[in-house]
Amino acid sequence: MSDADTQKRAAGEAAAALVEDGMIVGLGTGSTAAWFVRALGARRLNITCVATSQATAELAASLGMKIGELGETRPIDLTVDGADEIGPGLSLIKGGGAALLREKLVWEASRRCVVIADAAKSVPILGKFPLPIEVVAFGHKTTSLRICDALSECDIGAAPRLRMKDGVPVRTDSGNLIYDAACGRIVEPAALAFALKSVTGVVEHGLFLDLADQALIGTREGVKTLEP
Ligand code: A5P
Repeated sequence: MSDADTQKRAAGEAAAALVEDGMIVGLGTGSTAAWFVRALGARRLNITCVATSQATAELAASLGMKIGELGETRPIDLTVDGADEIGPGLSLIKGGGAALLREKLVWEASRRCVVIADAAKSVPILGKFPLPIEVVAFGHKTTSLRICDALSECDIGAAPRLRMKDGVPVRTDSGNLIYDAACGRIVEPAALAFALKSVTGVVEHGLFLDLADQALIGTREGVKTLEP
């Protein structure tokens, strides 16, 4: 197993130990979240889980975990999810796995959110990882031009690129498209978040600000805990 995978696994297992019997638990998406789901499933607790993607729901169901729908359970006690970048104050870029919309819906409905990652995800400033932006398919090329304008307003010169896989545009679980913006350095994440949300056709972006309560980072020296 690679160093990164060992760290992801350790972070996922540490997060699984935070879950208590009877909880409603939000399950993130991605390779790190999958380690969490597997470790949690192995504990055989009496919990109900809300999944942030179809892929995670299928993994959890295969482990015999009980799945509930967002809004049809009582509020989520704890959500655990991965990230593409973890910046100052636990500001995050998420959405590398195209699940950002459902992830944000679940995070915002949670009493506590814990982000888990390998050490390489910790960065001094957000933006090296291209920022995922989920858009409605109708008129998406026009929307992408308006995203360009919003980025320019924030002094970011990136041209958003439509995410493709196997020659066709990637569709999210909600049927939308993803543009990735290679911002470089996001100096003012809150201003960028506001500018992007102001564009009609943008459904959500991958900046998760003031949402994470704690980070568990796998490192060569063990799992480190970070607070905002
Ligand atoms: C899914 O859309 C993302 O937000 C993931 O949580 C993120 O891409 C981290 O993925 P890995 O754990 O696979 O690195």
